[in-house]
This record gives sequence, structure tokens and C-alpha cells, in this order.
Amino acid sequence: MEFALLNGEIIDRSEAKVDVEDRGYQFGDGVYEVIRIYNGKMFTIDEHLERFVKSAESIGITIPFTSLQLSEMLEELLIKNNLETGNIYMQVTRGIAPRNHVFPTGNVVPTLVAYTIKGVRPLESLKSGVKAILTEDIRWLRCDIKSLNLLGNLLAKQKASEQGCFEAIQHRGDDVTEGSSSNIFIVKNGMVITHESNNLILKGITKDVILELCIKNNIQVQERTFSLAELEEAEEVFLSSTTSEVMPVIEIEGKKIRAGVPGPITQKLQGLFEKEIEKQCGLLVNKVY
Ligand code: PDD
Repeated sequence: MEFALLNGEIIDRSEAKVDVEDRGYQFGDGVYEVIRIYNGKMFTIDEHLERFVKSAESIGITIPFTSLQLSEMLEELLIKNNLETGNIYMQVTRGIAPRNHVFPTGNVVPTLVAYTIKGVRPLESLKSGVKAILTEDIRWLRCDIKSLNLLGNLLAKQKASEQGCFEAIQHRGDDVTEGSSSNIFIVKNGMVITHESNNLILKGITKDVILELCIKNNIQVQERTFSLAELEEAEEVFLSSTTSEVMPVIEIEGKKIRAGVPGPITQKLQGLFEKEIEKQCGLLVNKVY
């Protein structure tokens, strides 16, 4: 049997149901996290929980559990579901209330749900890289909140998928922001460059791990806005996310980058990232490097 976490209780996954008046269901009024599991252990769990609480607070939702309680419940869920490699999906909504745009008053309790998804590392794509398209960033101006409202992201990802691509690289006018579900990096004159973490992008946890790895390993790095022209002229391009790790981008809008092979700095970071996983979660069986 598969289990899910619903409001602090671990129950049969098939019993974890959402009320039609849950504000997450009706308005996307909530926030979420995706946490990667390697060897049955949660990678960067503290960072994910911190962002979860922060995202919730930024829309006025108080999670009725402490971070320690959350991490203990997730741990228990992992064990019960016997998850070795995969993800935990977790979300909190403002709760169940008669439909009204105005926040409910009184003691409406947030709905907290978490469940696990089995899934191996995308080793083939990590080795050979993925293709991307470009698309105007039509999202709102609080992309730093990990909101359940993902319509803009979905439209971008769908467009990429219809063109046989893995990701849509979004831009506001001339400025590259982020992927539909990832952060974007370029390498220019040997320097790693990625958009600064402000309201226009999600402060990716994988992004922050990569920035730290760069600093610790003397790879020059800069957080700043870069242009479409810089993207086009980049020596290397890669994207990052919890599920994609450090993923080489080898083609954008049908134009190959580095003749379509992952670059040396991207590969170095992939190796360092694997070491970081092993540090937190134990030895990996299948590796890129
Ligand atoms: N997506 N930007 C966006 C818009 C994202 O949705 C994500 C993650 C990231 C990378 O963040 P992190 O490194 O913390 O995963 C950046 C998750 C994986 C998802 O929605 O499935």
C-alpha cells in the first residue's frame, strides 16, 4: 500500500482526498515544494523546509507544524513508502472555505498534503544534454513565491514539449529570467552567470548549491541578469532543478551550443554536484561521472 500525509496523519494514499472547496483546488491558493530523495534520504531538506515556510508566510498562510515536525513526518512517510530514489511532493493551501476571493476569517485550517513519487535520476539526459526553446515570460511579478498557480509555467513547458524540447527558457523582453521549472545558467569567458534571486525568479535550491560549489572550487560566478544575446553567444548553457540537477542545454531554438555537446564547466559542476549528493545521502550507484 502507498501512503500519503494529510494534515499531520499518514494515511492510505487512495484516501487522501481534496474537498471541492479547498482554496488550493479553486484558486491555487497555496504553495508547494518538491524534495529529491537519494538512497532513501532527503537532499537539502532544511533549505526546502525553510523556503516552504517562507513561501507560505509571504501569502499569509501559517503552517500548523514546525519545520522539525514536518521533517519527521516526511521521514516517516519515506520509510512507510519504502522510497529509495524519487521525490516528495508537498503542498499547503489556505484550507477549505466557501468560495470567496477574500481570505476566510475564523479558524480555517490550512490543508497540508505530501506524497512520494518513485523516479530514477535522468542519467541519459544528464550525459547528453537537452534542447530548449525561448518564450516570453508572461508570469506575474512574484515568481519568488513557490505558488501552486503555475499556469504561465505550464503554457511555457507545453510549448517546449510540442516542439520536442525539454525546457522553455523564459525572457522578459531582452532579459533571460528562468526556465518553466528550472533556473538557467550560462558560461561566458569561463564565468558562470545566472539571474539574481529576486521577485522575477524562484530562488532555486539547486541553484544555491551550484553557486556554493562554484565559490568553493574557484569557478568564477556572477548572479546578474543576462540578455538573450549573451545566451545566444554563451560558451555553455545549463539548467538546474531538484529533479534535473545540473542539466546541460545543448540546443536552443534549433541552434546547437558547442556543436551539441555538454561543456567542461557544466560537466565539472555535474561531478561536484554528485559529490554533494553523496555527502548528504550516501554513495550513488549510477553516476554521470
Ligand atoms: N521546479 N524555477 C522554477 C519556476 C521552478 O519551478 C523550479 C523547480 C526551479 C528550481 O528550483 P529548485 O532547484 O529548488 O528545484 C526554478 C520544481 C522541481 C517543480 O515544480 O517540479
